[in-house]
Amino acid sequence: MSTQSSRLVLVSNRVPVGETTPGGLAVALKDALSTRQVLWFGWSGGLTDKTGAGLTCIRRGNVEYAVTDLTTDEFEGYYAGYANKALWPSFHYRLDLAEYQPDEFATYMAVNARFARELYERISPSDQIWIHDYHLIPLAAELRKFGVTNPIGFFSHIPFPSPEIFRAIPQHAALASGLMACDLVGFQSDRDRSNFERYAAEQAAMSALPANAPQMAGRRTSAKAFPIGIDAAAFAAEAETSAGCAPPALVGAGKCLILGVDRMDYSKGLVERVTAIETLLDSRPDLCERVSYIQVTPPSRGEVDAYAQLRIELETCVGHVNGRFSTLDWAPVRYLAQGLPRNELAGLYRDAAVGLVTPLRDGMNLVAKEFVAAQDPRNPGVLVLSEFAGVAEQLPEALIINPHDPAQQARAIEHALAMPLPERQERHAAMMDTLNRYDASWWCGAFLQELAVATSKSSAVQAGAAHPHDEPLTAPQVAAGALAVAGRRVSGG
Ligand code: F6P
Repeated sequence: MSTQSSRLVLVSNRVPVGETTPGGLAVALKDALSTRQVLWFGWSGGLTDKTGAGLTCIRRGNVEYAVTDLTTDEFEGYYAGYANKALWPSFHYRLDLAEYQPDEFATYMAVNARFARELYERISPSDQIWIHDYHLIPLAAELRKFGVTNPIGFFSHIPFPSPEIFRAIPQHAALASGLMACDLVGFQSDRDRSNFERYAAEQAAMSALPANAPQMAGRRTSAKAFPIGIDAAAFAAEAETSAGCAPPALVGAGKCLILGVDRMDYSKGLVERVTAIETLLDSRPDLCERVSYIQVTPPSRGEVDAYAQLRIELETCVGHVNGRFSTLDWAPVRYLAQGLPRNELAGLYRDAAVGLVTPLRDGMNLVAKEFVAAQDPRNPGVLVLSEFAGVAEQLPEALIINPHDPAQQARAIEHALAMPLPERQERHAAMMDTLNRYDASWWCGAFLQELAVATSKSSAVQAGAAHPHDEPLTAPQVAAGALAVAGRRVSGG
């Protein structure tokens, strides 16, 4: 049954049509998916040789999924190319890995333009549109070109880099225009929001608009942090029923399990983590045969060179550490280059004494939240968390570390292994409180509510745009948080 009169149009690169176990985004959107009419549009995950292959539409109750295949050229230029060789590394502060190929950027823009065209034919004026992630940054601007005046929100699931890094992307102005075409841009953390606002302010200062330049007949773009949440209660229940997944030999009396679960990605700090385990065993040889570290790492984006390289580097590093410390019946690192079913993962989290979530840079990192939710509150494990994950803003009760410092990471693991029960319980309770307060329902509801507010502010700006007193913003106004890029305003929250 619909509780809102307007339909929600979701757009994301991947669309979870036909998935039996909902992933992070589908869980986070659960409330909207169960209470509103929804159209969910995006890539089918499939490839085709034909151009203009059209959409496949599947209705499941109140949700209609509309998905399109990509041609091989589109896949290579838009997804494997610009999104994952230019934007992903840049937004994760890896300019050394970024490749800015003009033809890939052109394909990225063309796919966004095609998605806009296909979506335009299916939306009605009362729809609320919510675009997700870096694959689709230009989509709102492309929709506006068709005269779409609907409320449009964008949520960035990955970090937004500092202005110095963002400006290094040769096409940064085109990307910024895409964001500025939205009524609301949501970020995972305050750090990301502030980076975006600093970029907008610096661009406004640099663009030196003449004093009487007209405002672009635009809307006001609001920026705000909405840390994505999980369904903590449901995950805790799943972990409780799945406990006991870890091999008994690794968790028996006097034994401790250390766990890492990450997609194979250079942003996750995997080599640094294995090096920290080596540092730990060097400094505490008594822990040999008593601790085991399981690293679950499903490969991803294997078509991108940097990912193939990482796999070789990680496997070399795991082999080196295992070679140094293994005995005939024990190895320090148990490395799985594959994923596990969700319930098994939940059980493993619960069995672990220490969870390592140590990315070099991460938008949020839901593994950290799932690890905490999975713990037995009477005897919880300890989370070791990178200061560079968005989730660190929300969970200061974790042991916060700099992943570039293996000695510090090793000391944090030692600290976690020795932490007294009352301290573990206290830290865990505080983190659970945050997870329950800012859960998936909160995230979805807060974003959509703010989109409605932002749209009304934006419409007011639009209505006033023709007003003779609608002057460009002054420097003090910019400093106060009402910013302008190419004539559009950004207001923080
Ligand atoms: O976090 C960003 C993200 O694109 C997610 O949306 C997605 O689930 C994940 O990375 C995996 O990436 P890919 O879709 O490239 O396999």
